Amino acid sequence: MLTRHNTLIGDCRKMRSLLDESVQLVVTSPPYPMIAMWDELFASMNPEIDALRETSPEKAFEKMHGLLDEVWLESYRVLSPGGFCCVNIGDATRSLNGRFRLFSNHSRITQKCTEIGFTNLPPVIWRKPTNAPNKFMGSGMLPAGAYITYEHEYVLVLRKGGKREFSNAEQNQARNASAYFWEERNVWFSDLWLLTGARQSLAKAARLRSAAFPLELPYRLIQMYSVYGDRVLDPFMGTGTTTVAAIISGRNSTGYEIDAGIMPRYESKALSEIAELGNKMLEERLSRHRLFIEERISAGKSVKHRNELYGFPVITAQERQARFFKIAEIEWVGKELQVAYDEIEKKYLRASA
Ligand SMILES: C[S@@+](CC[C@H](N)C(=O)[O-])C[C@H]1O[C@@H](n2cnc3c(N)ncnc32)[C@H](O)[C@@H]1O
Repeated sequence: MLTRHNTLIGDCRKMRSLLDESVQLVVTSPPYPMIAMWDELFASMNPEIDALRETSPEKAFEKMHGLLDEVWLESYRVLSPGGFCCVNIGDATRSLNGRFRLFSNHSRITQKCTEIGFTNLPPVIWRKPTNAPNKFMGSGMLPAGAYITYEHEYVLVLRKGGKREFSNAEQNQARNASAYFWEERNVWFSDLWLLTGARQSLAKAARLRSAAFPLELPYRLIQMYSVYGDRVLDPFMGTGTTTVAAIISGRNSTGYEIDAGIMPRYESKALSEIAELGNKMLEERLSRHRLFIEERISAGKSVKHRNELYGFPVITAQERQARFFKIAEIEWVGKELQVAYDEIEKKYLRASA
């Protein structure tokens, strides 16, 4: 198996290198309107925003979203029918013009995407507790002047139209091979995700500057909403977390980033780190599955099915054709990263199942 990855420096409001209906999944996190760290970026795209922020915050909020709207429209254009658009977004709380308030980014994006034609599906609440000593704001123990602490973000789940069709044998094969484990389904498809920490390997300063999400977030979404051979797009790729998740998941990817300083260069050391990390994650995933099955059997529960390729037990018939690939090599070929994979060793898995 081979996957291809393009990382492009440019403004994702016009993704000219992408044809209509050429990607199957969008996973992204835009700059958050009304969060101070993104003020400068929004003002650089529309200078009116700076002046409005203090005097008419609601107007500034609307203008910032006006810029993001163009990206949701482009995402709709490039997605194939039935393709998903998963948007990680946090709301903003801020004191402006002498008043503390909430700017509901997630509802504004949901509303616009629905207008564009996306089908709005149940979102995930990503809970990220803060340990900050000053996390409670307002009048302390005295009633009526304190504010709820905001400790979550959203992953909006939007689909272009109705259910994706898998209409021929090849497409069905790719879908069956991309099955995840029953016990993973039970966690991933819950509406509350407790995830902490961005990628370890990234320097702290770059992480703060980029507001990277943890690798587990795009990794789950890619498993949930795409199949082997698909192309995943991140229009706001930042440090490239979605690209790494796509590489590890055996999907192709495209990333756009406006700031060349943030964008990873993927020199050879970074590439071997990605391969190592991906293979470790896969091993851990398979070990977790083995442990889960062992515990289930010890608890006297039955395990009815076996994976047809590797022989290990699985809970449902849908997992019988799931296939798993290790990264063999990642290399630059021209302007594209190419990743070659080896299927996991069948004997090893049978013996230890
Ligand atoms: C919230 S960060 C994304 C972080 C990313 N998920 C990661 O894990 O590193 C948003 C990114 O979008 C980039 N950006 C903002 N406006 C853009 C635009 N119009 N086109 C392309 N990239 C843009 C910013 O430079 C920033 O790196």
